[in-house]
Amino acid sequence: MSTLRSNQTIPISSAELDDSDLQAVIEVVKSGRLALGAHGQAFEKAMAAYCGVKHAIAVNSGTAALHLIVRALGLKAGDEVLVPSFTFAASVNALLYEGVTPVFVECEAETYNLDVKDLERKITPRTKAIMVVDVFGHPADWDGIQAVAKAHGLKIIDDCCEALGAEYKGKKLGGFGDAGAFAFYPNKQMTTGEGGIIVTNDDEVARLCRSMANQGRGDMGAWLVHERLGFNYRLDEMSSALGTSQLRRLDSFLQKREAVAQSYNRRIKDLSWVSAPKVLPGMRMSWFVYVVTLAEGMDRDKVMMAMEANGVPARGYFSPVHTQPYIKEMMGDLSGTLPVTEAIAQRTLALPFHNNLTDAEVDRVITALEAAVR
Ligand SMILES: Cc1ncc(COP(=O)(O)O)c(C=O)c1O
Repeated sequence: MSTLRSNQTIPISSAELDDSDLQAVIEVVKSGRLALGAHGQAFEKAMAAYCGVKHAIAVNSGTAALHLIVRALGLKAGDEVLVPSFTFAASVNALLYEGVTPVFVECEAETYNLDVKDLERKITPRTKAIMVVDVFGHPADWDGIQAVAKAHGLKIIDDCCEALGAEYKGKKLGGFGDAGAFAFYPNKQMTTGEGGIIVTNDDEVARLCRSMANQGRGDMGAWLVHERLGFNYRLDEMSSALGTSQLRRLDSFLQKREAVAQSYNRRIKDLSWVSAPKVLPGMRMSWFVYVVTLAEGMDRDKVMMAMEANGVPARGYFSPVHTQPYIKEMMGDLSGTLPVTEAIAQRTLALPFHNNLTDAEVDRVITALEAAVR
């Protein structure tokens, strides 16, 4: 990875996999037990301990984790849930699957997390919950969000899919809401291939999620007794074993990502037309992506294309959910309703980012960015 020649494309993201990961998966395959086994249980136990929560339920994607949480909290058609638009579509889709109405909330201009003032403004008698997103791995304003939720009797879902290992005032994310969802797609801080996990301190939410992930079966029931509507959202044994193996090295992954982010910060600090991601005091960012913000008036998409032509991929990240074509079809034209989100989303640029990006590669990325801007 570190020996890329200058004409080779730098990957936008890359999982760190080693022989211990390979061995963990091989052991499962050799055992012949590929589903519903001890590796799933071990992964859940290790993740619950890592996040400092009572329960963890492994599932086959972050989206599945969010969907089950929405159902377990009893959210249904007619309910409104406050959700940022500056997020990945899955945060919103988990609500739409259940006919819940997403009410889009602005992001604040520093960390791009939920704007708590706008959150409170958008509460109506139908509001039942808040879908919080810890954007790019930066913890949301948890004190503010919890105060609003308490004052208005709202449930909290934490879409912490991008923030495994992040800390808010010294405490790991996962247990700040009624339940949280992490995701393990290969661009994440650690991977299981596809995969996700629900974390919660609520016994009932855990019981319901576990049952729904496994076709609605009960704890003790017979294989063909389905107590409730369920899904097949189970995580297989190979993925679980890979997850446990990756989790053992997660802290080193996070340290390496922090070092890469610092390397980027140093390289761009004197450039007047681009700003580095902001990390607020008291927060431990778990670097998912490295997203810079271009100065107002710059043509981000043109910059992106010029970088791409130079073998350096970059992504406009996020594209606000409230302006997506399918939302327009379902909810009408909402463009112009979230000016801060819309303005920020036109200026944000995700640069190549993974554990083992070297200083030389960081330099090559920023050199390509400078050339593109020129
Ligand atoms: C904020 C957020 N929510 C949800 C998801 C969905 O996770 P998955 O792709 O595992 O379904 C992602 C994945 O990128 C995400 O970034």
